[in-house]
Amino acid sequence: MSVTTRREGPIAFVELNNPPVNAIGLAMREGLMAALDWVDAQEGLSRVVLSGAGRAFAAGADAREFDADPVPPHLPDVVARIEASAVPWIAAVSGVALGGGCELLLACRYRIAAPGVQIGMPEVTLGVVPGAGGTQRLPRLIGMAKALDMIATGRAVTAEAAEAMSLIDGIADNPLFVASHLDIGTMELSVPVSDLPKPVLDADAVEAARALAAKKTPNQIAPLRAIDLVASTADMEFAEGMATERAAFLTLRTGDQARALRHMFFAERAARQPEWIKAEPAPIDHVAVVGGGTMGAGIAYALLNAGLTVTLLETDAEGVARAKQNVAKIVDASLKRGLITGEGAEERRARFTASSDYAEAAQAGLAIEAAFESMEVKKTVFAKLAAHMAEDAVLATNTSYLDINEIAASLPDPSRVVGLHFFAPAHIMKLLEIVRGDQTGERGLATGFAVAKRLRKVPVLAGVCDGFIGNRILARYREAADTVLMDGSTPWEIDEAMVAFGYAMGPYEAQDLSGLDIAHANRRRQDATRDPNRRYIPIADRMIELGKLGKKTGAGWYRYPGGNGKVEDPIVADLALEEAHFAKITRRDYTDDEIRERLLLAMINEACDILAEGIAASAADVDLVTVFGYGFPRWRGGLLHYADSLGVPAIVDGLRKLAEEDPIAWRISPVLETCLADGIPIRDYSAPGA
Ligand code: 3HC
Repeated sequence: MSVTTRREGPIAFVELNNPPVNAIGLAMREGLMAALDWVDAQEGLSRVVLSGAGRAFAAGADAREFDADPVPPHLPDVVARIEASAVPWIAAVSGVALGGGCELLLACRYRIAAPGVQIGMPEVTLGVVPGAGGTQRLPRLIGMAKALDMIATGRAVTAEAAEAMSLIDGIADNPLFVASHLDIGTMELSVPVSDLPKPVLDADAVEAARALAAKKTPNQIAPLRAIDLVASTADMEFAEGMATERAAFLTLRTGDQARALRHMFFAERAARQPEWIKAEPAPIDHVAVVGGGTMGAGIAYALLNAGLTVTLLETDAEGVARAKQNVAKIVDASLKRGLITGEGAEERRARFTASSDYAEAAQAGLAIEAAFESMEVKKTVFAKLAAHMAEDAVLATNTSYLDINEIAASLPDPSRVVGLHFFAPAHIMKLLEIVRGDQTGERGLATGFAVAKRLRKVPVLAGVCDGFIGNRILARYREAADTVLMDGSTPWEIDEAMVAFGYAMGPYEAQDLSGLDIAHANRRRQDATRDPNRRYIPIADRMIELGKLGKKTGAGWYRYPGGNGKVEDPIVADLALEEAHFAKITRRDYTDDEIRERLLLAMINEACDILAEGIAASAADVDLVTVFGYGFPRWRGGLLHYADSLGVPAIVDGLRKLAEEDPIAWRISPVLETCLADGIPIRDYSAPGA
């Protein structure tokens, strides 16, 4: 039963009950309608107390239903009946009230919530607008500016903040108890929210909300639509506003952006705890981190942030001092930005030690090595870890490119070794690639997923190959970009084309930030195995020769005069011209669409190879990696969701045309051939034997 009812004297209790978070699906809407009928049939009721079972009041409409046509009874009708009920409904909110859950709350005549409970309208994060009166009732209740702040950003507020803005009427440790003991006869209940006067137009707030949406959620339709709906409440009658809102909701929910955002929402959740992992993870309350450079310090801070104890290991006293300084810098910056309190900073410092004595990490259940990217260095570190830590401690490497199997093979028990590939800055980026070596045991994998859960990161399992999932796709992206650069474009044009697609920055600006030297080192490492017939673009190597390593050297693909914004560097254009001349290439202009097509098809094709080889287990995993680690626009649903929205035939067609130019670079992935032949989207492909 999604909704249960009972009566105690003059009080009726209606409880939402659809574990785990009381998502409002058809059964619950029907249950609420049945509860309303039941209430109507009762005599002598003074109130109806509405609450949610378990950890939520209600997490909103059941988004799993959004792919199908809406089925009555519809939520706005349920909400309207509750609001119009002859017996007042009182909301007792003990857990989150989001989206449709918040709309149910707004239908009630009195609202009590437990301390700290989150209340909000996150619909725009799913690519829709509130669809059961949220955009119409909230501004009437709390005013236009505050309603815009919540609805256009999707930001939830605490019960305390909700009370301060009169969204709720009171806070109580036990809302259900208080709601059923209110002296309702002597109280003045609020009028139904839909009967409140129209809010006053706040043109400044509307403009500010639009500016914020343009900055924080560029290209996304739902936030702008939500702003329009809230703004219109100033002069639109309630009934007309409701009809307009409903139409917008229904149009948006079947649109590409909402589909993509839903896909990301569910993919992120599905990734957290794979069902096939049965092993117990190693204890992770105390973790050893090896290497106190930028990455190691970031990982250490991420662990400290999650309440873990960290022992950072370095080679010598100088390294220890540097590591301490690097971690202290992040703590101080977080303090300065108000992300943690002074007490929080102290507490984090107290859980952190740095040492060159590996014996100090003897008690840790997990070690994460983030030392210099050299096989020799890694093997030495792992031998020391194995010598000092418990036999069943899990030993992880953060290597980006080195062969985990080779590291593991250097230990008596290779099953202890797993890859935990963090992304810089490690305390901010949400992706964690968990790399399974040939010998990695299930305990190592379980520990990786446990770390991701504690750190609230998105875990994706990857197999061993050069670059795993993300960096391998990135390498192909850059190769395609460099080819366009050599053949006629500029970093500026290429970056602009990708920003217009939805990336926060293009490949060249991004590389200037991370440094050109890392990719250069990889290219040198790959020299021995590169197909000699594959076209090689030497422009980036010339940049290295000129000492243009990116922002850290003051210049890379761009110049940064005074350390400020990027400006084009004519030297880069000259280099491209020169190299094209040496290679006897007739350069030509590329349109933005051509640039995008090349870079995106290159990535899609590579991602399909990654699926074929079993390096990624599913298309959704590729989507998570590209969105959470590489800035692919979330509202496009990740690389392969986007590919499926184009359709396999269109992709293969595009690749075939490019293959006429260069059959080696544009060799079509067997996964695409299979999907084309079988008439299936990439998301339905499963690797043989998977
Ligand atoms: N629809 C369908 N399923 C939902 C859901 C929703 N709105 N919200 C959560 N779930 C599911 C999750 O997929 C997950 O399923 P799983 O166990 O099978 O993986 C399960 O509930 C638990 O969710 P979380 O793992 O996210 O649990 P947390 O405790 O970490 O977070 C939460 C709980 C804060 C409620 C979070 O789930 C959340 O933010 N949910 C979405 C809220 C939302 O966007 N609501 C608006 C919906 S649209 C709407 O209401 C339209 C209306 O205006 C008409």
